[in-house]
Amino acid sequence: MERLDRILSQAGFCSRKDALRYARKGLVKVNGVVVRRSDEKIDEDSRIEIDGVLLEPHRLMVCMMNKPQGFVTSTSDDRSRTVMELLPEGMLRQGIVPVGRLDKDTEGLLLFTNDGDLHHRLISPKHGVSKVYYVEHDGDVTDSDVQRALDGIVLKDGSLCRSAVITALGDGRSTIEIHEGMYHQVRRMYAALGHHVNFLRRIQVGPLALGDLPSGEVRELTAEEMKGLN
Ligand code: URA
Repeated sequence: MERLDRILSQAGFCSRKDALRYARKGLVKVNGVVVRRSDEKIDEDSRIEIDGVLLEPHRLMVCMMNKPQGFVTSTSDDRSRTVMELLPEGMLRQGIVPVGRLDKDTEGLLLFTNDGDLHHRLISPKHGVSKVYYVEHDGDVTDSDVQRALDGIVLKDGSLCRSAVITALGDGRSTIEIHEGMYHQVRRMYAALGHHVNFLRRIQVGPLALGDLPSGEVRELTAEEMKGLN
């Protein structure tokens, strides 16, 4: 048994204070019966409705978005649209947040989760999860650029990047696989090699591929993809 207000706040539905207000107004039904006290203890498996909306049980969720350009990776921003605005209500209610960040001008694979342990594992330098980007840039990457990336590029501010794999695709295009996530890292790595980046799309994170997910869309990972993350 658990307090009603605690169940609502843990589900990310509302604060305990709001739970009190909803209950007092007679908007909360537990198994079809109105409950007016937010401190009432109820069975966690109860069917809870708030103003006619069924409370979805809190569960660990991992989603993949194809982030469009022009959205900042942040939970709030005064000036720009954020990636949170692209999440459907049901996912927002589960309390998912972006894992790492993509620049406003970068598009592609962005993960979201409410699983703190997984979030930590995906971004921690210790785990070095791989990330692959498709890059369009001025000039073509040369064999010497590829070797410098393998050896570890030194950025203009002196930071040393870990070994990275650049694959030239011709016509000012390439992919790069990195295992860390410094600020503007890919753009700065290419700048250090003398190539201005004109377009950047993340196409893979660890075993997860963006595939043909349309721009601006978001979906939950499949059971198979989840297995690959563990
Ligand atoms: N590297 C960048 O420069 N920008 C991104 O958004 C991601 C990686």
